Amino acid sequence: MTDFASWMRAQGARTETALDQALPNADTVPATLHEAMRYAVLGGGKRVRPLLVHAAGEVTGASAEACDAAACAVEMIHAYSLVHDDMPCMDDDDLRRGRPTVHKAYDEATALLVGDALQTQAFIVLAQAQSVQAEARLKLVAELALASGSVGMAGGQAIDLQNVGKAMSRDALEAMHRMKTGALLRASVRMGALCGEIDAPGLAALDRYAAAVGLAFQVVDDILDVTADTATLGKTAGKDAAHDKPTYVSLMGLEAARALAAELRESAHAALAGFGARAGRLADLADLIVLRTH
Ligand code: IPE
Ligand code: IPE
Ligand code: MG
Ligand code: MG
Ligand code: MG
Repeated sequence: MTDFASWMRAQGARTETALDQALPNADTVPATLHEAMRYAVLGGGKRVRPLLVHAAGEVTGASAEACDAAACAVEMIHAYSLVHDDMPCMDDDDLRRGRPTVHKAYDEATALLVGDALQTQAFIVLAQAQSVQAEARLKLVAELALASGSVGMAGGQAIDLQNVGKAMSRDALEAMHRMKTGALLRASVRMGALCGEIDAPGLAALDRYAAAVGLAFQVVDDILDVTADTATLGKTAGKDAAHDKPTYVSLMGLEAARALAAELRESAHAALAGFGARAGRLADLADLIVLRTH
């Protein structure tokens, strides 16, 4: 088995190619919209969600081609969420993935439409995925739609904006984080698994792993906003405090937030106990999510 760093590099390159092919060419009319969609998706990002799809697929014997479709779809939704998250009406950020945000490189209307179009493109990719059985395809569509919509990412973003400048209870903050960020990470694991064969108890165990890494991801994002610099992050550091956002750091302080992330890492590993070596990549990804520096 190749080491984790080599596997990540190979999967990253594979995802870049798959995304390139799954997006309309930049000269397709309307060219500016398609160019901006490609700007938002290609050539940046850690690709954690596609990595989770492929790693979960390794647990259930899924084909790499089936995982490519699921990985592209989730990453397109994620990229759309970033484009809208950065707009002036939301977090108002100028920098993303080390480059000007879409509304800065283009304009606000284009950024809005890039998000709309990436969202539908994700479902085109799933609906047309020949490498996935028709019944499984429907499950993937439902998983991604639920995780993206008003009870998932979009709902979590609404709660985030409603609570600027307010103190949230720990339960409410956790629920918000599970929705705005956890849901798409959780869907990544579930979708990768559903591209192969898995029974209900197996899927439930993977779901426990996914819920833990999903929450951990945003806890660490909150920590890095305070501890890392803009150059390392490729996005503006310190903006949560500047915008008076409720975060794990503002609620419980840096040390307690770090302890929670470590606890969630342990829970993620514990959930994988029954899978043995097949879940090795998922275990490594739990470590990456918690120990990352950007
Ligand atoms: C940032 O996500 C936004 C959150 C949901 C916390 P990532 O940290 O995965 O961003 P990229 O894809 O690597 O740019
Ligand atoms: C974003 O959370 C969650 C999304 C659904 C995009 P943040 O607003 O903290 O993400 P960053 O820090 O801008 O990447
Ligand atoms: Mg935000
Ligand atoms: Mg933001
Ligand atoms: Mg953040």
